[in-house]
Amino acid sequence: MKNKGMNHSRAMRGYLHTSLIALSACTVQAASPLLVPPTLTGPVYNLSMDHGATQLLDGAATPTAGYNGSILGPTLIMNAGDFVTLNVENNLGEETTTHWHGLHVAPEDDGGPHTGIADGATWSPDFTVLDTASTMWYHPHLHGNTHEHVNLGLAGMILVRDSVEETANLPRTYGVDEFPLIIQDKDFGPNNTLIRANFGDTIFVNATFEPFLEVPSQMVRFRILNGSSERAYHLGFDDNRNYSVVGADGGLLEAPVSQNRTILMPGERLDVVVDFSSDNGSTVTLMSYGSTLPNGVPGALMGPGAGNALNGADFNLIEFQVGDQTASPITSLPTSIWTIPDRWEESEATVFRTVRLTRDGAFTIDNQAFDGSRMDQVVLKDTIEVWSIVNEAGGSHPFHIHDIQFYILDRGAQPVTGHETGKRATVRADNNETVRFIAKFETHANADVPYMYHCHILPHEDGGMMGQFIVVNPEEKLIDLTSSDTDVTLRWSQYLTSQFMSLQSTSDLGVSFSDIVSSPSVVDEKNQLILSRDPGNKFFRLLPVTTD
Ligand code: C2O
Ligand code: CU
Ligand code: CU
Repeated sequence: MKNKGMNHSRAMRGYLHTSLIALSACTVQAASPLLVPPTLTGPVYNLSMDHGATQLLDGAATPTAGYNGSILGPTLIMNAGDFVTLNVENNLGEETTTHWHGLHVAPEDDGGPHTGIADGATWSPDFTVLDTASTMWYHPHLHGNTHEHVNLGLAGMILVRDSVEETANLPRTYGVDEFPLIIQDKDFGPNNTLIRANFGDTIFVNATFEPFLEVPSQMVRFRILNGSSERAYHLGFDDNRNYSVVGADGGLLEAPVSQNRTILMPGERLDVVVDFSSDNGSTVTLMSYGSTLPNGVPGALMGPGAGNALNGADFNLIEFQVGDQTASPITSLPTSIWTIPDRWEESEATVFRTVRLTRDGAFTIDNQAFDGSRMDQVVLKDTIEVWSIVNEAGGSHPFHIHDIQFYILDRGAQPVTGHETGKRATVRADNNETVRFIAKFETHANADVPYMYHCHILPHEDGGMMGQFIVVNPEEKLIDLTSSDTDVTLRWSQYLTSQFMSLQSTSDLGVSFSDIVSSPSVVDEKNQLILSRDPGNKFFRLLPVTTD
């Protein structure tokens, strides 16, 4: 019984919430218990992508796809510092990838568009979990097919745990006082088949339609992910209570922040604790307040998708039915959680880049559609950089970058507050505004495998609103010219073309960079080549440095 108590159309549900709540609560019982994905713990995680059928609505089961099941995937529990192996088997009948969204991993382990998993193949990245306690997720990322594969159901959550979370005594018993909430809107065609739409008219949490969840009357933590194609949510409770945000995209905040509305863009996560201690016996509903989303944010009345029945509407996400406390409940939160160790100052940045979100018919970045053979940015490892994202594309877009977590410096020249002060890998860029972030591109470098940056609105990303960068480690190219090796090949990466590198001409080495990459070079004496760069400039130069 999926539709018990609900006799209005799906599309109109959002508008009816207010009047329904005015009736007695027992007539508005949500229909299905929330699906809580099972967990997998490491150090080895086996995932298999396959098609299946899921009873999403009354009537026909919907053809879907999932990891280790017909839809979504298990929640991967990882401990900070662990060395993990993920075996990802593709049984979809076509190529795809699986990206660990938010994890700080090497580009060859990241699962971006360059790391395709052929049908029938298994991809097995392994890496040390370098992130601190956080809420990450995983999903396919094959260029042009990301929307299709995520819409079919391929997405799952990753919870990174660490001792900070434990010391702060945050709720962390999965399925008891901690729950993932993956929010997605979907659109249906005949026989309950999924349509790959930018905006859906039916809301699911963890692939459950009109879900309810029994929760204990104590502190309960929700790991909320917006896994939707384009829609943003404006999270709040029907009784307007405040909730404590303890973490966001990239990890725990320094202290809980009390909020009662939060805009969550596609790809973003929110780690919140709700105090249900005085709610035993009652029902509390998590809503999206679309009526108060700023225009231009996808899901607002005016802006992308305007005309969709849920745009500008306030609608239910999930009903919490509050019951008895557990045996050893967490009943309070610390006033501070930790001190984030690596919060960089703008004065520490040595490189400043500007990336423009543009629109040329389709949405683009810097007026170019994604091209996997073209390198867009080259970053020197260990550099602290400030990126300015200038939104000239119209509407709000969630800008996401792989590899690193950043801190937002400002949006529209104003500092950000609350949940946006923490580490993140996604930021909302509003129309005609510039949002700036600061990050250090540390640990990983691989001049042959790019990382992505893109809009996390899936149809935009697939349509080409994506660019790529490599992180290069100059130390790898420290050539000792006093060595007796005669054949030193300076070919480094297919992506390091003369656009990014040139050899400064000297009397000793009167050759251009392209001369060196095209043929082995005989080493001259008494010089070392080290890679240096022009501050504020993305072009590299191989500078010969004389040593005495
Ligand atoms: Cu969640 Cu590049 O993506
Ligand atoms: Cu990502
Ligand atoms: Cu976009």
